[in-house]
Order: sequence, then structure tokens, then C-alpha cells
Amino acid sequence: MANTIELQESESEKVEVKIGDKTIKLPVHTGTYQEKGIDISKLRAQSGYITLDVGFKNTGSTQSTITFIDGEQGILQHRGYPIEELAGKASFEEVIYLLLHDDLPNEAQLSELKARLEQYARPEAGVRDILNALPDDTHPMGMMCVLLSSLSGFYPHLMDSWSDQAKREEAMYRLLGQMPALVAYIYRRKAGLPYIDPRPELGYVANFLNMMFGEAKEEIVEALDTLLILHADHEQNCSASTVRFVGSSHVNLFAAISAGNAALWGPLHGGANQKVLEMLEAIKADGGDTSKYIAKAKDKSDPFRLMGFGHRVYKNYAPRAKVIKKYTDKVLDMLNMDDPILDIAKGLEQAALQDEYFVARKLFPNVDFYSGIIYRALGIPVEMFTVMFALGRLPGWIAQWQEMRQNGEPIGRPRQIYTGHSTRKYVPLNER
Ligand code: SDX
Repeated sequence: MANTIELQESESEKVEVKIGDKTIKLPVHTGTYQEKGIDISKLRAQSGYITLDVGFKNTGSTQSTITFIDGEQGILQHRGYPIEELAGKASFEEVIYLLLHDDLPNEAQLSELKARLEQYARPEAGVRDILNALPDDTHPMGMMCVLLSSLSGFYPHLMDSWSDQAKREEAMYRLLGQMPALVAYIYRRKAGLPYIDPRPELGYVANFLNMMFGEAKEEIVEALDTLLILHADHEQNCSASTVRFVGSSHVNLFAAISAGNAALWGPLHGGANQKVLEMLEAIKADGGDTSKYIAKAKDKSDPFRLMGFGHRVYKNYAPRAKVIKKYTDKVLDMLNMDDPILDIAKGLEQAALQDEYFVARKLFPNVDFYSGIIYRALGIPVEMFTVMFALGRLPGWIAQWQEMRQNGEPIGRPRQIYTGHSTRKYVPLNER
């Protein structure tokens, strides 16, 4: 009979794994909100067994103090502060500080952060040359990957981005300081418009909007500031885990962030916000019949998915989606805009949330479902949506990288279960 494995809670902080006649005790880690994690780091040495969890749906990669998500309750907190509080009261600069330093800044700390961001707000001249050299059809996220990696060439003295505190901070603030310009330059390059020089004295978000559109209306600054907060971090999502994994080889910070940006590009991750708008536009062009698209999403033979719906962790209405949905109405009212796409989105959401397929699978709108409608209302083109996500997520990626290095975590190198050929002899070419 195959080995039977029983997990029994034998002591408060250990579980027992019985494999055949062997009993192994494994430590249990308990999180702030009593989440439990079985520490299997000694499992293979003690049993010869590894675990298998494709996609890491049940496996923790680290212990983190940055962000807490309770998917069942629909809770999201950064360093203990609920996202609903931060999105309504904090500025994006305050949230950048919070993610990097474990608490909200006081006046002096916020001023110092702003000064560092201003100090490094101007990209090197070569950045525009690189952008101009890229093919016109390069996707904005492809351009961002190139620019982020190129920073390792502009700042060779920051290749070891960790061991020296001053260099570590310089690498972090050079990224955070010039990211608004990198995003705006990509927009101007794709639109065939002249670049607008940074004016960091305007403030982080106002400077970004000024580089994008040559102006920064206060109501749009406020709307974008909130959107960036809602994208700032999300614990061990695909792109943050990529930054931690790539960073665990001790490569420079620019390369690790560029890798995270590549992960975010995927349509199942950050790329979904662009796909949501394209899906809503297709539904509109198709007469606005949401039921046809609900049916397509449910049809296993159809690769179509309801973009902006579903989440690996949230099995309840996502807190960010709630805030963004409210904000969409507010921004459109503020801009005196009436976007039929919003009505289609709301109709699609209502239909899906009443449909057994989505209810049974606990599929709710995620952060990407409504964000694109606001970006578009702010004048940002659809193909720039995921780069906007990267602008918001950058502080989270850096905070996750910083924590991984602070923890002294080893290089990431998972095991596998091999299911290929067993040993066999080489066959000479003329005998095959
Ligand atoms: C982000 O991880 C994060 O935190 C990410 C993020 C962040 O801030 O960093 O929150 C940002 O990436 C949000 C997600 C954006 N992606 C999308 O909107 C793309 C559409 N959604 C999915 O493809 C999907 O829901 C995922 C990728 C988000 C989650 O996929 P999982 O957890 O791997 O779930 P799954 O693919 O195993 O789906 C479970 C079931 C399956 O059906 P059954 O096989 O059980 O019959 O739900 C179905 C899926 O087919 N399903 C969907 C669906 N999402 C899941 N069916 C139709 N439409 C969908 N959108």
C-alpha cells in the first residue's frame, strides 16, 4: 500500500508527518492574524520526500511584514493600515515611505523622501536615445523592460545594490525618482510627441502628469495619486515574487525590477487591465450583449476569460476593486464624462455575480476590472495601462526586494519530480 501520510497537530507549534513507520515533526509558523504555515525546510532531509504545488497555490515563499491579504474576508493592509484608509487619506509619497520603512513618515521624513525623489527625477540623456532607437511597434511594457535594464549601464557603480547602505538607497531612489519620467517618455515616444522635461518641484504625480500632457489639473493629480496607492503592493503576487526570486541571485536591483516588470506584462497579471478595456470595447462594438461574453467565459472549449475577473487569493469582492469602482463614478462625474463602457462594465459585473459559474468559483472583479476606465478618462491610452500599473507597483517591488535581502534569504532554487525517461544508452546517428 502507498505510504500513508497523516498530519497531526502533536504540539502547539509542530505537526507530525507519518510516512510509513516513520514520524517526522515539522515546525509551524503562526502569522500576525493566526495564519499557519508548516515549515518543510527539513522534510526532504528527514524523509526523502519533497512537496509538489504547481503554481504555489498552497505554498508560502517567505515570512513578510509588508502586506497582509485575507482573500476570504476581502482584507488588504500595508504594514497594518487598511487600503481603504490609505487610499482615502494618504498621499502616494507617504505610501512609498510606509512600504520602505515600516511606518507612515512624519513631516521631516516625508520632506526628506520628497527631496530624494526630486534629486533623482531626471533620467540620463541616453534614455531618450534608447527609446528613439526602439522599433515604433514596441509595446510600452517592452520599452519599460529595456529602460529598467539600461539603468545598470548608466549606473555601473550600483551593480552591488545591497552591501553599501548609501548605494542601496541611491539605487532605490534613482528608480523611484525617475520612474514617472520613464513612463511619460514612453507615452510621448509612442504618441510621436516631443519629450517634456521633468519638473520635480511640482510634486511626484503632478510632475508625471505634466510630462505626459503638459499640464497637471488638481483633480486629476488627486485621482491618479489614489490609483497609484491602490497598485502599490500586493504581497507575493507573480511580479513581486519574480523580483524576490531574481533578486535572490544578488543581481543588481535594476535587473530584478526589470524582471518583475516583465512578469507584470502578462495578460493574466498586470496586462489584464489593457485586456479588460479591449474586452469591454469588443462587447460595445458587438452591441453591448454581455450575456454572449459571459457564455464564452464559461465555455471550457473557448479560451476566452472574463478579463478583470477572478483572483488567486481573493475569494470575496476585492477591497481595491470596491474602492476603484466608487472612484470611477467620482472621477467621471468630476470630469463631466459619461463613458458607455462603464455601463457595460457594471452590467457585465452584475450578470457575472449572479451567475452560478462565477459564484461557485468565487470569481469577483479584481483591481484591473475598473482601473482602465479611470486611466482612459484621465487621457491615458489603453496600451499604456500596464505601464501605469508598474508606476504604482514599483515601491512594492522595491520593498519586497529589500525585505528578501534583509532576511538574508538564499538563492531561490525549487526542486522537481522528474517524470522523464529512465537511463538509456546513446544510439549512434546511423542507427536511429
Ligand atoms: C492581478 O496575485 C495578485 O495579487 C495579482 C494582482 C496584484 O495586485 O499583483 O492582484 C494583480 O494580476 C489581478 C488578476 C488580473 N488577471 C485577470 O483579470 C485575468 C483573468 N483572471 C484569471 O485568468 C484568473 O482568475 C487568475 C489568473 C487571476 C487567477 O487564476 P487562478 O487562481 O490560477 O485560478 P484558475 O485559473 O485555476 O481558475 C479557477 C477556476 C477555473 O475553472 P475550473 O477549471 O475550476 O472549471 O476559475 C475559472 C477557471 O477556468 N476562472 C475563470 C476566470 N478566472 C478563473 N473563468 C472565466 N473567467 C475568468 N476570469
